[in-house]
Amino acid sequence: MSFYITTPIYYVNAEPHLGHAYTTIAADILARHMRQRGEDVFFLTGTDEHGEPVAQAAEREGVSPRELADRNSVKFRDLVKRVNATNDFFIRTSDPEHERGVQEVVQKIHDNGFVYEGTYEGYYCPRCADFKTDAELVDGNKCPIHLIVLEHEKEDNWFFKLSAFQEPLEKLYVDNPQWVTPRARYNEALSFIKGGLQDVSLSRARLRWGVPVPWDESQVIYVWIDALLNYYTALSYAREGEDLTSEYWPARHLIGKDILKFHAVIWPAMLLAAGIEVPRSIFIHGYLLMDEHKMSKSLGNVIDPFEVMDRFGTDTLRYYLFREVNFGQDGSISAAGFETRYNAELANEYGNLASRTLAMIGRYREGLVPGVGVDDALAADLAGVADHVREKLDAVDLSGALEEIWTAVRRLNRFVQDEEPWKLAKDEGEAEHLDRVLYSLAEGLRCVSVLVHPYMPDTAARLLAALGQEDVSFDGAAFGARGGGARIGKLEPLFPRIEPPAAAA
Ligand code: MSP
Repeated sequence: MSFYITTPIYYVNAEPHLGHAYTTIAADILARHMRQRGEDVFFLTGTDEHGEPVAQAAEREGVSPRELADRNSVKFRDLVKRVNATNDFFIRTSDPEHERGVQEVVQKIHDNGFVYEGTYEGYYCPRCADFKTDAELVDGNKCPIHLIVLEHEKEDNWFFKLSAFQEPLEKLYVDNPQWVTPRARYNEALSFIKGGLQDVSLSRARLRWGVPVPWDESQVIYVWIDALLNYYTALSYAREGEDLTSEYWPARHLIGKDILKFHAVIWPAMLLAAGIEVPRSIFIHGYLLMDEHKMSKSLGNVIDPFEVMDRFGTDTLRYYLFREVNFGQDGSISAAGFETRYNAELANEYGNLASRTLAMIGRYREGLVPGVGVDDALAADLAGVADHVREKLDAVDLSGALEEIWTAVRRLNRFVQDEEPWKLAKDEGEAEHLDRVLYSLAEGLRCVSVLVHPYMPDTAARLLAALGQEDVSFDGAAFGARGGGARIGKLEPLFPRIEPPAAAA
């Protein structure tokens, strides 16, 4: 079966920050894991370039929206490369192919009778690109997210008959209890639907930066309608000369909790209206917090992901984010928390296990992994690990899967302490015993490295190469799946000591 995974497309009105990297890395971990399992994966990310968020930011900077989009889109593309994401395509909503695709689908929604002309009256936040009800506002007229004063506006535009999908959406939820996860988000979306669906604007009259409404060139398509369609249009032109839609659609979406309503309510209704199959699933993660606030450019509370990676490396950031914050919930991150986990878990647990194992095989067995059987007690403890990791990742529990892997790393370290190979090495009568211990350690290290590969691809690959193993397929993740006999190589320290930042000049 194919596996099509997406991230939200990021607004180009601001610089990329760690919150953006978070979803992209999560999707990459799943994509890499599924490839290990031999699945036919397509991984999409990109930038959201139309609408007020970008038009207004461009105005503030005194450049055209296109200039701003071109400039900032590159930064998001660089971030994707920098976090080592293996996306198959990077979509920009300003791509002409996307724009044509949006027009086709919107025309279909219109032709199927779900569009009418009306007047919108109410509040609109240009940063969220979202209409706000009176009840949502804070201090009378402020956006609850951006805390900026909103204008009350009235304009004629085209409406999408979201209300017509009340029953089909309720049925979709009831028939597919796993459609939206975690459960709390499913409940949130379903109760929003049950609360009664209002029709939504499908176009904007006062904006020029967007995709023209095909039957009314005086209006542009509302940026969220345009943006959501990226998931669908991308497949039609991502690979030159091919249409991948039938191969990969429907998608599995990964999103932050801020955009639940759009993805879990409006998006499936749009697809139903156009006669297109709804997404396979939507997973909603929480916010990365610093000082208990959502980290975002607008609140000025940002960690520059490039800086973090310069100092600590990409793999360690990828590890830290999914270790520190339970994926699906909000959680705080900090430089201090990073340092603690880096030292205690990466350097002392995984790094030490690797360097000790390699050093002992070098010293006691001239660099050759003994070709014997595994330790029975260790085998019993590690037997279920790969299956558990698979189950957890099937449920998009990225932190749970990592916890399983780390339990195995700790078990292996305990094995070293209990067996004390340095003592066995002094006793000729224990030669076979030592063979078994060393092979078990090499094999255990190989398994945890295969399992952790999607999280820390470079580190795991370096370690596997030092163990004389290249294969990262998931089948090989079972303890004892590979025999001994490999010649080990050299390994530079995987997790060098963190040097304090240089004093400001
Ligand atoms: N352009 C829209 C999405 C359109 S998808 C069809 C948008 N863009 S955004 O750039 O503002 O943010 C998109 C996503 O970035 C969030 O949903 C979330 O996945 C991620 N994050 C941004 N800040 C975040 C945190 N502080 N923490 C975790 N993820 C966050 O909304």
